[in-house]
Amino acid sequence: ARTKRADRLGRPMRDLRISVTDRCNFRCQYCMPAEVFGPDYPFLPRSELLTFEEIVRLVRLFAGFGVKKVRLTGGEPLLRKDLPALIRMVSRVPGVDDIALTTNASLLAGSVEELVDAGLNRVNVSLDALDSDVFARMSGGRGKVKSVLAGIDAAAAAGLPVKVNMVVQKGVNDGEILPMARHFKEKGIPLRFIEFMDVGNTNGWKLDQVVSKQEILEKIGSEMPLEPLEPAYHGEVADRYRYRDNGIEVGVISSVTAPFCGSCTRARLSAEGKLYTCLFASRGTDFRTPLRDGVGDDELIRLIDRVWSRRSDRYSEERSSGTAGGRDKVEMSYIGG
Ligand code: GTP
Ligand code: 5AD
Ligand code: SF4
Ligand code: SF4
Repeated sequence: ARTKRADRLGRPMRDLRISVTDRCNFRCQYCMPAEVFGPDYPFLPRSELLTFEEIVRLVRLFAGFGVKKVRLTGGEPLLRKDLPALIRMVSRVPGVDDIALTTNASLLAGSVEELVDAGLNRVNVSLDALDSDVFARMSGGRGKVKSVLAGIDAAAAAGLPVKVNMVVQKGVNDGEILPMARHFKEKGIPLRFIEFMDVGNTNGWKLDQVVSKQEILEKIGSEMPLEPLEPAYHGEVADRYRYRDNGIEVGVISSVTAPFCGSCTRARLSAEGKLYTCLFASRGTDFRTPLRDGVGDDELIRLIDRVWSRRSDRYSEERSSGTAGGRDKVEMSYIGG
């Protein structure tokens, strides 16, 4: 019966996004601006991160609620020590049939074999520009386009399905829409354009910095004609298209101009063990304390059930209707997107 549990808006739980670290080696302006996330920023100490055993215990219980898909995020998840060991443990949990990773790929080339061997099924790579100056501006000057492309190539060579995510910010990297589209069309790798979102409290988001899904599709379609595809699965965040000539996929994630809260089946677990029911939530529910207090599974199950059955989040839809202003929100780097 537990697997049938729906939230207040009738949405079941299907995906669990797990942040394994709040740290990152990049400083993307829209996510972890260097002025805020400086040398003195109070990142979580190691003792406050959930251990792999704690994470997997929770994954087992979430699988009992219907979670089939687990996505590991950060910050940058490859900064977490021994990540392949966690993947191996999660891959053994009955019911979990898809383990994915969202990464900036700067460290991927060196570890992809191990990750695949451990049971990783797919990877989504964030890359906002091919031009090195634009990339430097987007990523805070830390990474190199070359290392990200090497990570993408290594993943593809290892047989891992790869998708690329590009956050589009007007006046910063919108000139990269076409170069990126051409490049990944040629490579045969699905690229997804993401409307810049007002996540967190530090990225100074303004609506006029958003390039809409429609503008993006028109720009690409006028040079490379597109046709729409059906969603790959219920609740997919990206609207999918393919190029008419070679059939390669491209997507747009339009959380601002066309929100998808109605089919949102995602729960999010922070690196320190707080459960969030929305990317834009102000508060999460602490699971680390009960875990470390030694409570039994039945009590943890009750807690999950209570949180999910009370869930009524639909932030992106409220934002569009103008009723979501002025909230205190969790940071993107903390919750992993
Ligand atoms: P797939 O399983 O490959 O479809 O992955 P995904 O698109 O769900 O995950 P990914 O980590 O690649 O996220 C892509 C973009 O979608 C990021 O900008 C996320 O922040 C955004 N995103 C993912 N889930 C949600 C969500 O529930 N709400 C909103 N508003 N954005 C989301
Ligand atoms: N708006 C949209 N996407 C964002 N991401 C990070 N911050 C934002 C934002 N403000 C993306 C990252 C990564 C994914 C997890 O979320 O680029 O691809
Ligand atoms: Fe790091 Fe990804 Fe945030 Fe960029 S968007 S700072 S790569 S976590
Ligand atoms: Fe889900 Fe919240 Fe995103 Fe809406 S805004 S899709 S409820 S995470």
